[in-house]
Amino acid sequence: MANHVIGLLLGMEDDWPAAFESLVRRANLRVRAGGDEHTFDVRRVEIEPFRLRADPTHDLVIDRLAWWYQLPREWLKKLAMLNEVYLLNDPFTFQSMEKHTAYCAMMRLGMNIPETWMLPTKVGPDNERFAETARRYNRLFDLDAIADRIGYPLFMKPFDGGGWVGVTQVDSRAQLHAAYDASGQRLMHLQQAVLDYDVFVRGLSIGPQTRIMRYRPERPQHDRYDTAQGFLDDDMNTEMVMTGRVINAFFRWEFNSCECIVKHGVASPIDFANACPDVSLTSLHAHFPWAITALVKWSIFCAATGRRMALDMDKRRYFEIADRPGLDPRERLEAYFALSEAYFETERFEAFCATELRHVDEVAFEYFTSPAFDELLVATVLATFRPHEHEHFVAHYRRLMAHWATDAAGGSAATG
Ligand SMILES: Nc1ncnc2c1ncn2[C@@H]1O[C@H](COP(=O)(O)OP(=O)(O)O)[C@@H](O)[C@H]1O
Ligand SMILES: [Mg+2]
Repeated sequence: MANHVIGLLLGMEDDWPAAFESLVRRANLRVRAGGDEHTFDVRRVEIEPFRLRADPTHDLVIDRLAWWYQLPREWLKKLAMLNEVYLLNDPFTFQSMEKHTAYCAMMRLGMNIPETWMLPTKVGPDNERFAETARRYNRLFDLDAIADRIGYPLFMKPFDGGGWVGVTQVDSRAQLHAAYDASGQRLMHLQQAVLDYDVFVRGLSIGPQTRIMRYRPERPQHDRYDTAQGFLDDDMNTEMVMTGRVINAFFRWEFNSCECIVKHGVASPIDFANACPDVSLTSLHAHFPWAITALVKWSIFCAATGRRMALDMDKRRYFEIADRPGLDPRERLEAYFALSEAYFETERFEAFCATELRHVDEVAFEYFTSPAFDELLVATVLATFRPHEHEHFVAHYRRLMAHWATDAAGGSAATG
């Protein structure tokens, strides 16, 4: 008998961790793998000094904190480097490969990334060497000429951004200069805008599980995810699933979301380096049960089967496909996808779910329709919105969850 500890590295959130803990507890898992029986505990990680040589107490850690808090980030690096603890996600893959690197890599794979330029920072680094270095080597450049080459409208946004910070839509020369002047020391991209699109898609992937969601970036945060499913034709849906998973497998990202804009039937990925994305109840609502169930299944699979984190990237195998003559874009994507599915062990995972976790969807359905979950929903609304909004949003989210429950009861429970 082996017991595995799943750690949750958290900030202020209480919604998804509580749902995750409840689901694992209710599922009462005793899983057979590798000739042994496995049980699981979920523990929230506490921040304290740590000895670099200390033995790890977790078998797997899901991180939602290290993107802004340094000590836990360095703790994750120790776990990755010294202890090979399974991490969602490996911090190295995100620190060294942010948005800019991801654009370059996916351009190398032939994906339809909008035209993008990088600009020197408006204000140089605080370094005594900068003035003289700039005098010698920084060429004057014509910002307007670059924007004209890309064409208006365009977006100016940080090369490593997240959470829409510093993102500006630029429609004119005046806006271009205002945005550049405001960027200060931040390194910015200038990117062709894809507007008047058919649909904005967000694909949330957890291991080899992907939820394709319609996203409305123009709406307020609580209303950005549409509840609709099946809003793409089969072909485009498959393309979205494959695109997100290929990007994730390429970078060894296992909990990530991929934003794609589909216009005139052509998909352009625009933002796909979103480590451990927001999975809060108030943003995901009807997609929340899927996300939590998927996180539980993938964590249990990794912990029970002893799946190890990849140390290498295998980039060359992807590049060889990119360079293979005679493939059309779809064939190329399918060839990448074969690599990504091997990486995620999709078949083995699905077989594991069908045998060892076969009751989890049912337990999830019971939980997400239970009074206990409703309490969590109410507590989350109270913690998220202002007092005069409480009544409205409790009713709003109850309605969305009821909608989900009706759909799920007719389909495949929590994964429907
Ligand atoms: N090239 C683009 N075309 C159209 N909209 C864009 C483009 N780039 C960014 N946006 C808009 O700006 C938002 C934030 O930009 P994004 O690249 O996703 O950065 P972040 O990492 O901050 O989320 C997107 O959700 C989208 O609405
Ligand atoms: Mg984004």
